[in-house]
Amino acid sequence: MEENKRNLLDEEAKASLDIWRYLFGFADMAAAKCAIDLKVPEALENHPSSRPMTLAELSSATSASPSHLHRIMRFLVYQGVFKEVSTKDGLATGYTNTPLSRRMMITKLVSSPVNGPVPPFDAVHGKDLWSFAKDHPRHSELLNEAMACDARRVVPRVAGACQGLFDGVATVVDVGGGTGETIGILVKEFPGIKGINFDLPHVVEVVQAMDNVDNVGGDMFDSIPSCDAVFIKWVLHDWGDKDCIKILKNCKKALPPKTGKVLIVESVVGEKKKTMIMEERDEKLEYVKLALDMVMMVHTSTGKERTLKEWDFVIKEAGFARYEVRDIDDVQSVIIAYRS
Ligand SMILES: C[S@@+](CC[C@H](N)C(=O)[O-])C[C@H]1O[C@@H](n2cnc3c(N)ncnc32)[C@H](O)[C@@H]1O
Repeated sequence: MEENKRNLLDEEAKASLDIWRYLFGFADMAAAKCAIDLKVPEALENHPSSRPMTLAELSSATSASPSHLHRIMRFLVYQGVFKEVSTKDGLATGYTNTPLSRRMMITKLVSSPVNGPVPPFDAVHGKDLWSFAKDHPRHSELLNEAMACDARRVVPRVAGACQGLFDGVATVVDVGGGTGETIGILVKEFPGIKGINFDLPHVVEVVQAMDNVDNVGGDMFDSIPSCDAVFIKWVLHDWGDKDCIKILKNCKKALPPKTGKVLIVESVVGEKKKTMIMEERDEKLEYVKLALDMVMMVHTSTGKERTLKEWDFVIKEAGFARYEVRDIDDVQSVIIAYRS
């Protein structure tokens, strides 16, 4: 009986990681196709003396934006398609081909028309994802259901890591809270707090009423309802640094100066090199974060998964005094930014 229980738990843990492969598996092929269309393997092969090619050199040879190219190469290096090595002077790193990327040069894909990278969502639909969702209720519903599904999975883990953080907190606003799944879980886990589910008006209009939760429609770029703590999950990764800083500044304005805090639930890209000793679970989690970054590149025009250095930048630019990161052994971590 005990063994059956353990096996079931193992299967659950495995499924919670393997599901991402089915969701994001297309990112492997899309990123490889992108590199092939940009003729990255040829550029690396033809580089003088086959020296490692720095990002600047590769971006100039392929006419690709350095920031997008960096993210595509980071993902493909992680997948073992290309290698990232130190340049001869040891002052920088550069990319080289591998036997795998050389084989890509001779695949049929190479002879297909050069399309350039997959165009982002805005370029295809003429509006960003959120405006598109507003005009397409079925798409909005799908998006909200998918987010609610993730919330049911991850928010109890987040709550476990946040014990003590809600002491003395009377009101929590979940910014970009969607259907309210997250705040619903939080008010149950931490009885005594009042929740506000804050999202765009067309989203909160169709949300079901819940005990201890008010649904408030608005725009986080204008203002956020006053509260003791802000919760913001999987929202900041939809936006580039400038917008992200603006949202965080509005979170800061909504909070009391001494005790206010923002609980950011997002990935922290480790930039870990794949090594033989890396735990299988860490390896899979890092893959999901990098694949998610590929998805953000396509679904949003400026959004991205951030490294710790990138989080440090936006949090400090928004004026927060300090922050800490709590690992929850999942795709997302909890980053707590304090006003003072
Ligand atoms: C990726 S979803 C995350 C949903 C939820 N936090 C979760 O993780 O399950 C991003 C959310 O941000 C909301 N959003 C987008 N732009 C917004 C804005 N300007 N003001 C408020 N919410 C916004 C969207 O409607 C959507 O619900």
